[in-house]
Amino acid sequence: MRLGPFTLPNPFFVAPMAGVTDRPFRMLCRRLGAGHAVSEMVTSRRELWSTLKTSRRADHTGEPGPIAVQIAGVEPAEMADAARYNIDRGARIIDINMGCPAKKVCSKWAGSALMRDEPLARAIVEAVVAACAPRGVPVTLKMRTGWSAAGRNALPLARAAEAAGVAMVTVHGRTREMGYGGSAEHETVAAIKAALSIPVVANGDIDTPARALEVMQATGVDAVMIGRAAMARPWVFRDLAHLHAHGRLPPVPATRDVQRWLIEHLHDHHALYGEFTGVRSARKHIGWVVQSLPGGAAFRQRMNTIDDCATQVAALGAFFDELAERYPQLPESPEAPQPQEGAHSEAANEDRTRLESWPAAA
Ligand SMILES: Cc1cc2nc3c(=O)[nH]c(=O)nc-3n(C[C@H](O)[C@H](O)[C@H](O)COP(=O)(O)O)c2cc1C
Repeated sequence: MRLGPFTLPNPFFVAPMAGVTDRPFRMLCRRLGAGHAVSEMVTSRRELWSTLKTSRRADHTGEPGPIAVQIAGVEPAEMADAARYNIDRGARIIDINMGCPAKKVCSKWAGSALMRDEPLARAIVEAVVAACAPRGVPVTLKMRTGWSAAGRNALPLARAAEAAGVAMVTVHGRTREMGYGGSAEHETVAAIKAALSIPVVANGDIDTPARALEVMQATGVDAVMIGRAAMARPWVFRDLAHLHAHGRLPPVPATRDVQRWLIEHLHDHHALYGEFTGVRSARKHIGWVVQSLPGGAAFRQRMNTIDDCATQVAALGAFFDELAERYPQLPESPEAPQPQEGAHSEAANEDRTRLESWPAAA
């Protein structure tokens, strides 16, 4: 599908998730078939750009293009600056975050809180487009259906965004008020798709390849975006592409293939974060994948006691060696882990390396 000057290989996108979709994880999802991957959000506040966290997020070394960076903030001029800053560091698509419900972001009126202030939301979109257009960089927008049930204003905002020059809109089918409760609805995104001529993407509770195709068919959207379901099963994109192309799911992946994917990811992860942080932040990724595999719960416990890269890689390798002996094909098809109410706090995501310890939110 087309996005500004780019042709994306397929309409199956991995969602931006702070503390999850860092460069190594985006590269893993792309290798496993995701057609587009947006970075975790990067703050528009200049004084934070030199922090280790933000500079890691702005590092795209080796990432296949087009590189898409999500920015979050509340000041139009700052957001325009952030767009230019990230373009200078390799971004070829800029995504505006109007979907994040986290308190840390919303209390500063950013993320989905912007949907409550339409004039400010429009001013931000216009300023970012004005910064990006001269550089040939398309701007995309990610939003929820509105602030609250009584304030579902995604349609007028999407229309305004299109008029301002936005190249693609993604809609998570929940209001900000819902957090992650209830179920995502996709009627709003269908209405937006019908009203706009730019590509529109559906997001929210798309947890299987079959569900992805159902939502595409029911809404007519150009693409779907998958978040939480990809955390434990990043090969959902390969399955989805196969289902889309052949009308049936591919065989369950070989255990040896999964082992190879995970070890490659682990090496990339360690290289980005270094030994101390890398070993700890990798635990959550490993935990998500193994939790539903035979012996996975015990292995996860053991993983939390390992604190050097080489031992972590060896332990993961040995776990999959044993598993492959018994099960040449991966022996399960689990549900994706569902973050609790509140899990979107970035600090919480980063401080906690095990899924069950996530607090409520995203
Ligand atoms: C841990 C976590 C972090 C997230 N971080 C972001 C973010 O940085 N930017 C954003 O636009 N959305 C963020 N989201 C929301 C997701 O992009 C997506 O809209 C949401 O999870 C719904 O899709 P899903 O049901 O497929 O997970 C985050 C979600 C989770 C679970």
